[in-house]
Amino acid sequence: MTQTSSSFAGQVALVTGASGGIGGAIARRLSAHGAAVALGYSHGRQAAESLAAEIEAGGGRAVAFAADLADPAAPARLVRDVEERLGSIGILVNNAGLGRTLQFDAISVEDFDTTLAVNLRAPFLLAQRVVPAMRERGAGRILFVSSVAAFTGGIVGAHYAASKAGLHGLTHYLATLLAAHGITVNALAPALVAETGMLPGAADELAERIPVGRLGRPGEVADLAVAILRNGYMTNQVVSLDGGLHPR
Ligand SMILES: NC(=O)c1ccc[n+]([C@@H]2O[C@H](COP(=O)([O-])OP(=O)(O)OC[C@H]3O[C@@H](n4cnc5c(N)ncnc54)[C@H](OP(=O)(O)O)[C@@H]3O)[C@@H](O)[C@H]2O)c1
Repeated sequence: MTQTSSSFAGQVALVTGASGGIGGAIARRLSAHGAAVALGYSHGRQAAESLAAEIEAGGGRAVAFAADLADPAAPARLVRDVEERLGSIGILVNNAGLGRTLQFDAISVEDFDTTLAVNLRAPFLLAQRVVPAMRERGAGRILFVSSVAAFTGGIVGAHYAASKAGLHGLTHYLATLLAAHGITVNALAPALVAETGMLPGAADELAERIPVGRLGRPGEVADLAVAILRNGYMTNQVVSLDGGLHPR
């Protein structure tokens, strides 16, 4: 059951990758806590628009925004479009991510660059765009959706693990820079999460590797994301959510 509260009432949250499993769940939770949500998508127009319709039908505020984050010009356009429709962004959830499974020898320059562009460059550029208004307001929340692969190497590939590890450096740099301005910056690193584009079906073999004995659920990631975003004293952290896979 989704709890409702007004913790984020009057705030605008941009969630990239809201057409996907984890992003959709985070957007629903933020809306349930009162935020107006901007739903970023690239290919998943139908998913993003139907989520926007579902949220609006339930009395919330949500608008879907197209942006291919592999394009270096897209983050600035996306922030401008969101601000025009919904107002200044107070919560940025950098969730969109690309993870094509590839053996080390098979990773081309293009695979590497595209993965880094979506998973690392776009979150950097989006943060760069939203931070000035957050600083002026003296408040803001930035959350990067990373992966346990940044710690373990994972199963997707070197390109993916490297892109997610880069988010941790970005988290630490920005959190230190922005802590005194009322802006928290954290990263959430899930392990294997079911009901997502990345892991759509049953994955019993993978579940056996997780001490808890099952894959994670998008709602569980969203619950933790909201707890992090509500907490003004938590910053500069990379938090794992992995069923006990990688104790740190
Ligand atoms: N599922 C897991 O096991 C797992 C584990 C650890 C971390 N994660 C991370 O969780 C995040 C969400 O993934 P998910 O599991 O929810 O998978 P998903 O359902 O496949 O969602 C991925 C999202 O990223 C968006 N995206 C991909 N390429 C994009 C691009 N070029 N421009 C804009 N958006 C783009 C997709 O948008 P469109 O569909 O609209 O193109 C989609 O909304 C990712 O950062 C992923 O790395 C997932």
